[in-house]
Amino acid sequence: MIFKKPIRIGPTKFKIFQWMMHIVILAWLILVFYQGLTDQLGGDPVQSLLDFTGIGALNLLVISLVISPIASYLKFGQFIQLRRPIGLYSAFYALSHLMVFIAFELQFEMGLVLSEIIDRPYITVGFTAFIILSILAITSINNIKKKMGRKWFTLHSLSYIAVILGGIHYLWLVKSAWYEPAIYIIVSLLLILLRRKKLQKCSNSACMFIYTVLLYMHTTWIYRQRAPL
Ligand code: HEM
Repeated sequence: MIFKKPIRIGPTKFKIFQWMMHIVILAWLILVFYQGLTDQLGGDPVQSLLDFTGIGALNLLVISLVISPIASYLKFGQFIQLRRPIGLYSAFYALSHLMVFIAFELQFEMGLVLSEIIDRPYITVGFTAFIILSILAITSINNIKKKMGRKWFTLHSLSYIAVILGGIHYLWLVKSAWYEPAIYIIVSLLLILLRRKKLQKCSNSACMFIYTVLLYMHTTWIYRQRAPL
């Protein structure tokens, strides 16, 4: 092991680092939305907003999952504190992504939102990932976390399902550059492999949930093959 000594940063320096992280993630999102609304995002601002928020949500989710293995490898306990805010920002970017889709692509036609989720497989998968991220964000509240006890860790292992679904959603919608989403899927699978011992402790209820999601996706897939829309 290269890093024998635990890494520790002074509390003030770490606070400054945390603040910088919050500012960069939020300011970037605000700036891109500002550019989109003031027509500075090129010929298709809605597409640019969708791309930025989608990639942003996926990157932040991967970063939040990479934190634990890096922190334990470097013996850098403080680093773990960044996992929750980055995971929450991933959910926030995903919410912005969904809002851009509903507001600018579908012009708030809620009937269309439902039919898009049901009819388009890549949207079904993206929406499933979004639901998981929302559940994880809500249950990140300290009181809920305390009440859930050990179940909280089981539930939060669903973040690995969310990242895979995010990668599949991306893979499904690209027309040519398939290697970019493929890299996300490979990285996610490697992360699952790294955490396999912890994930094996996943209780029956979480496994049931995962099987239900997979079964649902499989059934809708078969249905679509038989009844082209
Ligand atoms: C909430 C439900 C979601 C809907 C309705 C949705 C919809 C969309 C749409 C319409 C696009 C653009 C498709 C195109 O280029 O033609 C897109 C792209 C994308 N979405 Fe989603 N999405 C959802 C959730 C998610 C989530 C949760 C993630 C990540 C965790 C995600 C990641 C991406 C990525 C990476 C792209 C591609 C960006 C690029 O091409 O650069 N999406 N999504």
